[in-house]
Amino acid sequence: MPEPRIPVIIALDFPVSAQALDLARQLDPAVCRVKVGKELFTRGGPAVVEELTGLGFEVFLDLKYHDIPATVAGACRAAADLGVWMVNVHALGGRRMVEAAAEALAGARRPPLLTAVTVLTSMEGEDLREIGLAGTPRENVLRLGHLALESGADGLVCSAREVTDLRCAFGVEPCLVTPGIRPADATGDDQRRVVTPAEARRAGADHLVVGRPVTGAADPAAALRALEAEVGGL
Ligand code: C5P
Repeated sequence: MPEPRIPVIIALDFPVSAQALDLARQLDPAVCRVKVGKELFTRGGPAVVEELTGLGFEVFLDLKYHDIPATVAGACRAAADLGVWMVNVHALGGRRMVEAAAEALAGARRPPLLTAVTVLTSMEGEDLREIGLAGTPRENVLRLGHLALESGADGLVCSAREVTDLRCAFGVEPCLVTPGIRPADATGDDQRRVVTPAEARRAGADHLVVGRPVTGAADPAAALRALEAEVGGL
């Protein structure tokens, strides 16, 4: 995977489209991409994605599809028709589901990148045991990561703390996208295991998902510039 031109993805976690668009208008699409998650998409629908694209942003549609293969393939085709840059699925949907997603996207005019979530970072060993998954979170991340990449995913969404292990196991090719990023001088909010932008990039993350340190800043554009300087200063 070539060095990404724009490593920072701003998570537009707003309950109302107008707020997300107001924030986006303060940012530069040459400097960041944006992420639309379940709350904003459920409220704003395809229109908010189209408006963000119209402002010049590449959009990561973070809906984490997990369903039968035909349903996920259809959802991926719909996402590709919307013109998004990246779409994601749960690796736990299994080989046939990830393959169906990859095949559906391969047929698109401008195929979005396909990333897979391995184990949600909110889950610990006890949560995995309770749903019948043996092994440590790390073992599950590596097993599911292998399955997703072998099934056609372009990359993985993971904790920056998992990046070194994933690079050792799968090399430089997969696109690794890491949330839970906090600039060195920021508070952690409700994130627990946070990593600074420089640490994440040094470990080998391609893209850094950052929400509140930018969206909650008094001057979001200045916060983004500071973040870029921190990332670029490697
Ligand atoms: O505001 P903050 O920087 O914590 O936002 C992080 C974003 O990344 C949110 O949209 C959150 O849903 C998402 N995310 C995460 N941890 C994961 C997966 C996604 O924080 N493991």
